[in-house]
Amino acid sequence: MNIGIDKMGFYSPHLYVDMNELAISRDVDPGKFTVGIGQEKMAVAPLTQDPVSLAANAALEILDETDQEKIDLVIVGTESGVDHSKSIATYIHPLLGLNPQARAFEIKQACYGATAGLQMAKGHIALHPDSKVLVIGTDIARYGLRSSGEVTQGAGAVAMLISREPRVLRLEEHHAYHTEDIMDFWRPTYAENAFVDGKFSNEQYISFFNRVWEQYKAASHLKLAEYEAICFHMPYTKMGLKALRTILEETDEANRDRLLANYEVSKTFNKNIGNIYTASLYLSLLSLLENQEGLPAGARIGMYSYGSGAVGEFFSGILQPDYQKQLHIQRHADLFASRKEISVTEYEEIFQQMLPADGSKADLAINEDPADIVLAGIEHHVRQYVNKK
Ligand code: HMG
Repeated sequence: MNIGIDKMGFYSPHLYVDMNELAISRDVDPGKFTVGIGQEKMAVAPLTQDPVSLAANAALEILDETDQEKIDLVIVGTESGVDHSKSIATYIHPLLGLNPQARAFEIKQACYGATAGLQMAKGHIALHPDSKVLVIGTDIARYGLRSSGEVTQGAGAVAMLISREPRVLRLEEHHAYHTEDIMDFWRPTYAENAFVDGKFSNEQYISFFNRVWEQYKAASHLKLAEYEAICFHMPYTKMGLKALRTILEETDEANRDRLLANYEVSKTFNKNIGNIYTASLYLSLLSLLENQEGLPAGARIGMYSYGSGAVGEFFSGILQPDYQKQLHIQRHADLFASRKEISVTEYEEIFQQMLPADGSKADLAINEDPADIVLAGIEHHVRQYVNKK
């Protein structure tokens, strides 16, 4: 059975900080952030956007009435969830008008969560061919002001509808995955911001990539030349490039040039958003599909997912005929064009804003946020979401 991604939606908040400005304020040469790290703008979430509203906004743009009826499984991958018990999948269920006869849960393994969801969805569709699964990666990446990871923060979500006879990307049957208990990046339950061993995390990202790449080659008998492009989890856009470079010698110059050119396109959105953890790999795929004209149907896209802690997985998919019809190219171009730049001082203020944690009521300025779905406030510890449409 053909199973894969039928639709893709994306949302990121309307505010951003320019990486040149951040570098200047941190007394760093801007070239380090824009070239060395490879980031140009960083999405900043106001209090009215949290991983619930980001996820709902990303999914809202792709679902029609048939989807709302047929989705019987909702999986949200996140590592910046808003509740230790209640899942984001249940919060978004009414916001998206989904059929109550559905399973809904949140899944966590750092940035790997949405890939875990995607693979679970594939298994679910194999057992229930007429159903559809909504898989969302949604996150706000926080390392802390003036930390070395600060330049790799971001906020956003990617939603994917998984079904049989998918119209965007059919997932191929081979898999390669690897798990090891390591401490490269983690966030204890008492911490607002992530802890990271930056250099070690970079090494592990590449080491896991090399391992699953070799496993995948052995399982699939596919050669590097048979890939049109490889999309990577992008904590920052230089990271995937470092991993890609480790295998380029496996093919000739023409293929190398194509893979490198497609890598450049696949980072278009990511370098303007930042790390969105679970959604970063899928944002990179969307970036490739929406910005690279003339990717042929039938082309093979490799996908490398990495979630610190750590799990790595490599898989691949085949682009489907007329996949372009399933994309929202203009809407996403408008989303980027309508964003508002904020100063580093404004970003720092927003970064430190928190909802009251003592049960008192807070009403947020929802009219300042152009998103359809917003967090309107909190009352008696209950978050209040509104769909303004
Ligand atoms: P750092 O130590 O500040 O940076 O932190 P650096 O000194 O390594 O410099 C970075 C690059 O900029 C280097 O290039 C420099 O040469 C270059 P490279 O050698 O790497 O190619 N550079 C310049 N380039 C041009 N002009 C200049 C200039 N100056 C220097 N003037 C680090 C970098 C990534 C470690 C830090 O930002 C960090 O800790 N980030 C967070 C961790 C991270 O993103 N890790 C990635 C792998 S782990 C992962 O992907 C999982 C994750 O998403 C979490 C999850 O799974 O949930 C993070």
